[in-house]
Amino acid sequence: MNFTVRRAQLEDLASLRDLRIQALTESPTAFSSTVDIELARAPETWRRWLTNGATFLLTAEGRDSGIAAGLPDKDDPSIVYLVSMWVHPSLRGSGAAEHLVAAVKEWAVRFGASQVRLLCVRDNIRAGRFYERVGFRSTGKNIVRERDGAIELELACQVERRARRGALIIVCGLPGSGKTTHARQLESARSAVRLCPDEWMQELAISVWDETARARVEALQWKLAQRLLTRGMTVVLEWGTWARQERETLRAGAQALGASAELHYLAAPVDMLFDRLQHRGAERPAIQRKALEEWAAAFEVPDEEERALFDQVVAPEA
Ligand SMILES: CC(C)(COP(=O)(O)OP(=O)(O)OC[C@H]1O[C@@H](n2cnc3c(N)ncnc32)[C@H](O)[C@@H]1OP(=O)(O)O)[C@@H](O)C(=O)NCCC(=O)NCCS
Repeated sequence: MNFTVRRAQLEDLASLRDLRIQALTESPTAFSSTVDIELARAPETWRRWLTNGATFLLTAEGRDSGIAAGLPDKDDPSIVYLVSMWVHPSLRGSGAAEHLVAAVKEWAVRFGASQVRLLCVRDNIRAGRFYERVGFRSTGKNIVRERDGAIELELACQVERRARRGALIIVCGLPGSGKTTHARQLESARSAVRLCPDEWMQELAISVWDETARARVEALQWKLAQRLLTRGMTVVLEWGTWARQERETLRAGAQALGASAELHYLAAPVDMLFDRLQHRGAERPAIQRKALEEWAAAFEVPDEEERALFDQVVAPEA
């Protein structure tokens, strides 16, 4: 089964609430909160989930089916708490829960923590076994839960603060192929810096059709990208990159800096691209179908030989 984990954003608040209610309904004794408390919550308080730490949502087969959150300790920045861990019963034993724990641990490292802690009800044998398998051990501290007197065991797992390796993600595809949506998802899920020439040009009041200015903006963005990569950051380049040579320069440049290079290629038939462009109506003047056909013919689709040079090649659905 295919899982994806993303960091929850404002547009995920309804999913977050829904998952939380499902979790508390399905496993009422596993959490310190209750379904009544969550149902009574004012809508704006759900936003705190996004600002006070990080919340991760798991999708399987296109449905949001799991949740976990990382909460920094109030006093000690080296500690992050793993809370609200839940996966839909149909995903238990599938490995899905491990993806959520990995996302929280990864975030904790980026946050600067060296330990992830959690509280697990002593009688929750399945969860206890699971946490042990993914590296958590008892700290010896037990807490009596206020609302029902249940005994909660504190578990902890060390997380390593490694020197981070930069990662360049090249999102390539024709206009209308979904590059921006995909790049934005990566920006959020991977805590990346996204560089999109169109956005910079619009901010600078430069026509997006001015190819000389575009080349300058891209050169600036590439300079910035290289500095970020050497500092271990993840950079998403949303440039189109139609030509293999252009992708080659970026890939080799990133790898020469010790960063990894990923290629995310979004393919879509011309009919679909044209429909989308007409629908979004963002281009002035509008892109003509004939031009799109010519661009599709000019676009150098990454072949096997090129793909083999990247650390990872992803072909998300456009
Ligand atoms: C806790 C949770 C996220 C773990 O995910 P999961 O997919 O169920 O975990 P796994 O199946 O990978 O691991 C569970 C372990 O318990 C074992 N197990 C399964 N059913 C069990 C049972 N009834 N009794 C004892 N152990 C059991 C499994 O064999 C496995 O152990 P192993 O790795 O040694 O084989 C998930 O069960 C869940 O969402 N539970 C409800 C909410 C909850 O309890 N959250 C935790 C709050 S602290």
